[in-house]
Amino acid sequence: MATPPARTIPVRTIHVRLPGEATDRSYEIACGSGLIDSVGGRVAADGARRAVVIADAAVAGSHAARVAASLAAAGAATTTLEVPSGESSKGVPMAGRLWAELAALAADRGTQIVAVGGGVVGDLAGFVAATFARGLPVWHVPTTLVAQVDSAIGGKTGINLEAGKNLVGAFWQPRGVVADIDTLATLPDREYISGLAEVVKYGMILDASFFAWLEGHAAELLAREPQALAWAVERSASLKAQVVEQDEREVSGLRAALNYGHTFGHAYETAAGYGRLLHGEAVAIGMARAARLAATLGRLDEAVVGRQDRLLASLQLPTTPAAAGAIEPATLITIMGRDKKSLHGRLRFVLPDAIGRVELVEGVDPAAVERVLSAP
Ligand SMILES: NC(=O)c1ccc[n+]([C@@H]2O[C@H](COP(=O)([O-])OP(=O)(O)OC[C@H]3O[C@@H](n4cnc5c(N)ncnc54)[C@H](O)[C@@H]3O)[C@@H](O)[C@H]2O)c1
Ligand SMILES: [Zn+2]
Repeated sequence: MATPPARTIPVRTIHVRLPGEATDRSYEIACGSGLIDSVGGRVAADGARRAVVIADAAVAGSHAARVAASLAAAGAATTTLEVPSGESSKGVPMAGRLWAELAALAADRGTQIVAVGGGVVGDLAGFVAATFARGLPVWHVPTTLVAQVDSAIGGKTGINLEAGKNLVGAFWQPRGVVADIDTLATLPDREYISGLAEVVKYGMILDASFFAWLEGHAAELLAREPQALAWAVERSASLKAQVVEQDEREVSGLRAALNYGHTFGHAYETAAGYGRLLHGEAVAIGMARAARLAATLGRLDEAVVGRQDRLLASLQLPTTPAAAGAIEPATLITIMGRDKKSLHGRLRFVLPDAIGRVELVEGVDPAAVERVLSAP
């Protein structure tokens, strides 16, 4: 049977409810297919007189050009600023350049920033929006799977310093998010598959039936079959939205569940040298290790470790650190102790006790961690 035309995918709206004391910061995430040309109308309806599109160079001539055209058609005076692709753009020099360009454009609070790209451009443009003139409204139009299911939702923005990733930042909620799965068609395979690791993460931490659905639809997801992809994005985005609603600033510990697989993952990412593993690949290895650690500590049924490994493998994600190269467990433990999420050097991990349920576990015995890290 032929793939149904993409436009048969329904457009869904996910509400992120963040009532504030002074201002209501609630917003909507539109997800589905055929949405890119609707961005202008949405932003204009939010009162934009002027818009500045901040675009990843990889999508500047395609998706971002359509966003800019739709903004102009909706009556907003629109300028596009292009940012070179890659993590190195997410730093002080590029933030400084964008601040200067906004100043030259005399951007004011009637100017809406529209970020078009992956997590790099979303974090950078969000941070620039949060800080310029003490805060410009920002819209996110995520064009990577990671950005659609994770980074565009929740208001964490930031840039990297030499001393570490995401060290400078601000919580700055967007005015809205438009996640059009059609934009993912141009994403390289490796980037796309890497994003699927975060999708698996949502099933594992919050939703056993979504996890089971993923097990049954791995082939469709790998083929980017639109119906399956739309559901994977919608479900993941709404799970992230629920967490953000309940724990916007990571105080109750609920938002920390989103770090499942990330303590191990960051350690492998760092030890392998940035660039060798994509973030999602490192997270896949990290989730496999975290589940193994949970089983070692007697918190999780062995069978679940195998189920998660099989799902990751069926999505062509790594489950062993072979791709990271030879790394000593001691090196990884040192890195994990330095992680800004560890408390006074004590090791803490988000560990599952069943599919769909995780807990933040403090003061894990380093010997158990080392045993898990020593496994092939
Ligand atoms: N704020 C948060 O809550 C949060 C959450 C997760 C990750 N992040 C951040 O997100 C960043 C990673 O995001 P990412 O994985 O989207 O990486 P990315 O933004 O670097 O995009 C990955 C690659 O895909 C290219 N690209 C983007 N869209 C494309 C498209 N539609 N077609 C073809 N190529 C395209 C980019 O140019 C880049 O080369 C990291 O900096 C990470 O710290 C933030
Ligand atoms: Zn992640």
